[in-house]
Amino acid sequence: MIEQRYPPLSKMFWESSQRSTRVFQLLLVIVGITVPNLVAIYLFTAANSCRSQSQDSSLSHRGYLNGAQRWPNQLNETQEDLRKTQKELIKVRQELEASLQVIQGIAANLLLSTSQHQGSEVSASNTWPPQLSSLAKELQEFVAVRKLPLGYNPSLNADIIVGAMGFGCFNPNLKPDIAKYMHYRVGADCPDDESLAQKLLLHGCEPLPRRRCFARMPSDPEEPLELPTSLWESPSDDSILWTAYSCKSFDCLNARAKKKVFADCLDCFDLQGRERRRWVMPESNVDFSIADVLAFKQGTLRIGLDIGGGTGSFAARMWEHNVTIVTSTLNLGGPFNNFIGHRGIVPLFLTISQRFPFFDNTLDIVHSMHVLSNWIPTESLEFTFYDIDRILRPGGLLWIDRFFCKSPQLNSTYAPMIERLGYKKLRWETAAKLDRGPQLQEYYLSALLEKPLKRGAVL
Ligand SMILES: *[C@@H]1O[C@H](CO)[C@@H](O)[C@H](O)[C@H]1NC(C)=O
Ligand SMILES: *[C@@H]1O[C@H](CO)[C@@H](O)[C@H](O)[C@H]1NC(C)=O
Ligand SMILES: *[C@@H]1O[C@H](CO)[C@@H](O)[C@H](O)[C@H]1NC(C)=O
Repeated sequence: MIEQRYPPLSKMFWESSQRSTRVFQLLLVIVGITVPNLVAIYLFTAANSCRSQSQDSSLSHRGYLNGAQRWPNQLNETQEDLRKTQKELIKVRQELEASLQVIQGIAANLLLSTSQHQGSEVSASNTWPPQLSSLAKELQEFVAVRKLPLGYNPSLNADIIVGAMGFGCFNPNLKPDIAKYMHYRVGADCPDDESLAQKLLLHGCEPLPRRRCFARMPSDPEEPLELPTSLWESPSDDSILWTAYSCKSFDCLNARAKKKVFADCLDCFDLQGRERRRWVMPESNVDFSIADVLAFKQGTLRIGLDIGGGTGSFAARMWEHNVTIVTSTLNLGGPFNNFIGHRGIVPLFLTISQRFPFFDNTLDIVHSMHVLSNWIPTESLEFTFYDIDRILRPGGLLWIDRFFCKSPQLNSTYAPMIERLGYKKLRWETAAKLDRGPQLQEYYLSALLEKPLKRGAVL
């Protein structure tokens, strides 16, 4: 009777158990080639929860039969239970299918990668990531390895960018580095391997796995200064662990500005120089002052994010206006994160490839200077802009500060990309970028954009 009434249900049980068997076969393969335990745990939970669900519901089926004969009044209640069980089963089935897709993708990917030649050089290749054809198309887009449009970037030590979702940790080319990173004694000091950690992040192994060892500390740390004094004072050299950097002092870092060592943020550690004037005394039409920007919102800009904020001067200035800004930054050639922390503002160690760790519609303002630019592959940049939109609250401001590109790209690619967000342009300024010479035809765009309070139907 049950069989006749609920044929799809029993068919579903059978299919699920078939799937479970397939899952087990996959599991064996996966364990055989040493996938992290995480996958196994995920798999076991999915399969087990399905099985216990089916046992529960077959018990209810028996209860239903007996109940129908002995206590007709309970029929209605039991039917209700059955309906609920069926709904739950459908949900479990959907979840199982979703997790199967992920697992099959990973397994296929692993099988593929183990059969490939394993080089130690990290570069774009056809094998990584493989065509995860069972995954959603947008996910494939997100994790795709993309060549940097301007080629090898010496400060990133990479010529590629990978949408970070932990996938990079399974890149066969990174295997030796991951193994090295996770080789340590539990409970002892961690290896002094900041450069290795950052290299892994920059190649898509983000977030990095946690470790059970003690991060190295500077040799002679001291208490930081009090706010607001700390905002504009450098910490002492002794409060920094310098191993990862070629410079071993702030004097050395500041001297680079004169030597033209690398292009960006050369003078960022010098808090008495240009850092002090930024966003206070605009130098051109593409520089907005913080006071002008805050005036657009009359006190309702309170919290925000500065993407790639160097040594944190934007957040320091905003602090002086009672606005709390979190600054994302890497340690490219210098101790940016520790420096920001010493100033008494919040550093966030994150590449621009990772989804921002904020919930939807939460921040009042997102600012970024120099970082979002044409060195990022267009598709990756578009993912970033949508993620910024996600974390900005309705009515929040996006301040694009000195975005740069070639002049034809502005009208052909970037302006349309930004306009697709549907923001109100409070300010929109362009200027020729001449620091590398006019022959390069480079342009700056600075824009202050307001996220709409309501978004009309988007097709
Ligand atoms: C069975 O339950 C439903 C909803 O709980 C109720 O609307 C209906 O009147 C019940 N029927 C009988 C015969 O008790
Ligand atoms: C910041 O807040 C303090 C305390 O509420 C207030 O005295 C000060 O005027 C505020 N500063 C600015 C720039 O709004
Ligand atoms: C881009 O388009 C605007 C008008 O939409 C025009 O004024 C401007 O000159 C164009 N810029 C370039 C670099 O082509």
